[in-house]
Amino acid sequence: MKRGYMWALAALILLGLGGGVTWYRSADRDARLTPTGKLEKRDVEKRAPGQPKPYHGDLPSVAWINVRDAILDQVVKGLDFPWAFEFVAPDELLITEFGGAMKLYNLTRGELRNVEGLPDIPSGVGQVGLMDVALHPRFADNGLIYFSHAVLSRKDAKKRATAVSRAVLEGDRLRDVQQIFVATPFGGSPSNFGGALEFDDAGYLYIGTGDRSRQKQAQLVDTLTGKIIRLTADGEVPSDNPFVGDPEVDDRIYALGVRNPQGLVFDAVSGLLYETEHGPMGGDEVNIIRRGANYGWPTITYGANYSTQRIGSGTRAPGMEQPLFYYLPSIAVSPLTIYRGDMFPEWEGDLLVGALKGAHVNKLDLVDGVIKSEQRILAELKGRVRDVKVAADGSIYILVQNGGRIHRLYRDPDNAALERPKVRNGAAVYKLVCASCHSAGLELVPQLSRPGDWPDRVAKGKAVLYQHTIEGFGDMPPRGLCENCTDEELRGAVDYMLRQLQ
Ligand code: HEC
Repeated sequence: MKRGYMWALAALILLGLGGGVTWYRSADRDARLTPTGKLEKRDVEKRAPGQPKPYHGDLPSVAWINVRDAILDQVVKGLDFPWAFEFVAPDELLITEFGGAMKLYNLTRGELRNVEGLPDIPSGVGQVGLMDVALHPRFADNGLIYFSHAVLSRKDAKKRATAVSRAVLEGDRLRDVQQIFVATPFGGSPSNFGGALEFDDAGYLYIGTGDRSRQKQAQLVDTLTGKIIRLTADGEVPSDNPFVGDPEVDDRIYALGVRNPQGLVFDAVSGLLYETEHGPMGGDEVNIIRRGANYGWPTITYGANYSTQRIGSGTRAPGMEQPLFYYLPSIAVSPLTIYRGDMFPEWEGDLLVGALKGAHVNKLDLVDGVIKSEQRILAELKGRVRDVKVAADGSIYILVQNGGRIHRLYRDPDNAALERPKVRNGAAVYKLVCASCHSAGLELVPQLSRPGDWPDRVAKGKAVLYQHTIEGFGDMPPRGLCENCTDEELRGAVDYMLRQLQ
């Protein structure tokens, strides 16, 4: 059997038995776009074949993907329909509430304070309200914060648009509030405001604006709806914006053809800007936003209309970008973050996407620009995940709308309350991990039940078999795919196999 083929086989085994992980083969470019619909209703409590059982005290959804000793605490409660947050200090969060308020929460003192001095923000209908917040890259010196919110038209109070304001946060007060951007034209729809905000490392501000339910506007280059906008921190047009000098195009546009952007995150390590957006029925997307690019809405999409009518001309068109990943059916994506930190090194560089309707955190394993697997974790939050951030210490903060709460996922090696992992004996590891291949009746994998498969292998001697199990051998994946099995446990499993063969 060719190498690599085995991996596909392992993927089939994992998928076919309804496991918690979706594996994609790296070589197959289209595989990263595979819709994940079939796994929507899976039970995260169910163990995937080849995955070890969690220890007592583990979070099942995290333990299934080989992460041990993760603790999930609730750190903030009592918020009123929170939307987004930022760390203004290592122990202080600035939180927006959709109804038009801002809060400061001190994690050390456990104290929630109201921020005064906000402008009047319309709310109370549909998706109209206060949305995202972002900090100026030099916030520590200048105190500047930026927030996105709905505004009413001065001419017609029934019409609204997405706006961005900035202000200086001084203590518990905003001063010098100034509206720096309005995504015109105003429109009557109470939905699809977008509102995602992010700075890059050069100090430019990116704004994701929704199509305001006027789909065609996302392709029109003289409107600011359905776009990714790029501005200076003062709200001016950067002279190197992609369409500067083109009289037909509004100079503030950086990219176009987006539907309802919920999240933008700039990854300083790769220099890439990632976006999440709500699709129509199905077709939520994760995109890499590139200068001047057209993301295709509504000409191409993987979703359908809510009336199940087909939209546009299909899923691909020349000159239009494909998503990095899409969800069918939708999980109702919220903002995303990219994990960079010391606390969960096994997640380095992965994307963590919030899911509202899906009520989990969607972990996309990103390797060399390709999504290798999708894992649905933290379903135990039982909530609409609306924002996810990585703290300076590498722990992960998750804002959940229902119950108005923020949780922290972290590791604490000093926590005596956590049971130290016990060494699992060889028989247990074999049954949990190895049996999914070696006792599955597979033609091309040596089977314990077929003694004839083994003499040549056993003749190599124990030391070689241990080494092959740990490092991988031919089509045998390293560690039998068990990343959290210790070497001792793997040797125990080999010993168990050899005993069975005698
Ligand atoms: C995804 C399927 C899969 C899993 C899981 C798996 N193996 Fe294997 N294993 C294989 C395949 C395939 C081979 C044959 C490799 C070859 O000869 O190319 C193999 C071979 C072996 C061999 C013989 C190596 C040699 O040098 O001939 C040992 C020992 C072994 N596996 C132990 C284990 C143990 C212990 C586990 C559990 C910790 C495990 N395997 C889990 C697929 C698997």
